[in-house]
Amino acid sequence: MDMAREPVAVIGTGYVGLVTAAGFSQLGNEVWCVDIDAGKVAALRRGEVPIYEPGLAECIDSNRERLRFSTELAPALEHARLLFVAVGTPPTYSGDADLSAVQQVVAAMPYSDHHALVMKSTVPVGTGDAIKRSFAAAGKSGLAYVSCPEFLKEGSALQDFLHPDRVVVGDDGDWAGDAVVSLYAPLGTPVVRTTIPTAEMIKLASNAFLATKISFINEIANVCEETGADVLEVARGMGLDHRIGEHFLKAGIGYGGSCFPKDVSALKQLAGNTGYHFQLLTAVIEVNELQKRRVMAKLQKHLGSLVGRNIALLGLAFKAHTDDMREATSLVLSARLLAGGAQVRAYDPVAEKEARTLMAGVSFADSAQEALTDADACVIVTEWPEFAELDWKRVAEVMRGRVVIDGRNLLDPSLVRQVGLVYEGIGR
Ligand SMILES: NC(=O)c1ccc[n+]([C@@H]2O[C@H](COP(=O)([O-])OP(=O)(O)OC[C@H]3O[C@@H](n4cnc5c(N)ncnc54)[C@H](O)[C@@H]3O)[C@@H](O)[C@H]2O)c1
Repeated sequence: MDMAREPVAVIGTGYVGLVTAAGFSQLGNEVWCVDIDAGKVAALRRGEVPIYEPGLAECIDSNRERLRFSTELAPALEHARLLFVAVGTPPTYSGDADLSAVQQVVAAMPYSDHHALVMKSTVPVGTGDAIKRSFAAAGKSGLAYVSCPEFLKEGSALQDFLHPDRVVVGDDGDWAGDAVVSLYAPLGTPVVRTTIPTAEMIKLASNAFLATKISFINEIANVCEETGADVLEVARGMGLDHRIGEHFLKAGIGYGGSCFPKDVSALKQLAGNTGYHFQLLTAVIEVNELQKRRVMAKLQKHLGSLVGRNIALLGLAFKAHTDDMREATSLVLSARLLAGGAQVRAYDPVAEKEARTLMAGVSFADSAQEALTDADACVIVTEWPEFAELDWKRVAEVMRGRVVIDGRNLLDPSLVRQVGLVYEGIGR
């Protein structure tokens, strides 16, 4: 069999699963996609892509003949031996990962000595070993298991799939690990081949480290505000040191999304379950929560009471170039603003549909300009490039108040001040 072109299955067609499926189809693999969401599968079969991710719809369209979508596992099992699992692992109330969807997939695995589960979902360290034990207990020891954590970023997910920094393969040194390595070979990417628990830890530790970098620069930004330093210059000066690196040193109003909050708390919880108190991560999480709320203090500094004030939120998604609203800072901010008596009008170029289901009491505008009309203050929540290109002279004319809080340090402060508006960024 041509290992680089063998048919594969992807179970779960969300952000990770669909991108993985599209990416493999682009490499020439036939991909058998399975999802329990019948509506999603029907939409995909009609050629509709249910999420916003740059280039994804085009990629799926151009590889249509290699992509199959079904709610049934059987066709996938018949055609593919590698079953990539990309189901959700959301947080539970305790902060642990909810593995019920993973367990559902595990339970559905047949007796087989020629299939392997390849775990793309982010799972706690020890999950792979536990799954192998459950296979053994069910008399299914013939099934192989590989941990192949995913590192893509929403907003550039397809590019990240096709040009990853590394591919991590944790396995028992059997055919399945070899097959996964061959599958990724055309990408010419460094492969870290290791044990299953180590692969699981690489994923959690990577996300925890990135979140730590963000909370670190956010605290530096807060101190900059008190001391007259400019965090953008500080970050540039730090980032040029190759031991530090320039990435993830952007101060802002806190990280969100479906990964960092959940994976940091899952690692903290995992450590806690073993009796180890992961003090640093406790601080990382707390700093992030406080950071989301600092915008309130900035608004109150300029406006006093927020009762009856019109606040425009520009951007709602947890970051630019995605419609993902999971753990978005806009959710906390809008709730705090409404609780403070403000009226909130929001605009996001792609996340509005999802946001409407999550943000009761918020009104939605069709453009940034519309959201800004009669606003007492505006907050840039998501770094959509279109906000940097706004005509600020026109904005100053339509706004009732003067205050612009740039939660992502997206704007040139002098341009905003030039037109008579009051600019406040984060740490500058
Ligand atoms: N989103 C990211 O940026 C990202 C990046 C790296 C890793 N991850 C990890 O990848 C995993 C998936 O994340 P996501 O954002 O793609 O989630 P998602 O919620 O977008 O997608 C999950 C999909 O799995 C489907 N599903 C649930 N149970 C199923 C089952 N039993 N059988 C078949 N399909 C089932 C759901 O219907 C949904 O379509 C998570 O563990 C996440 O932590 C996510």
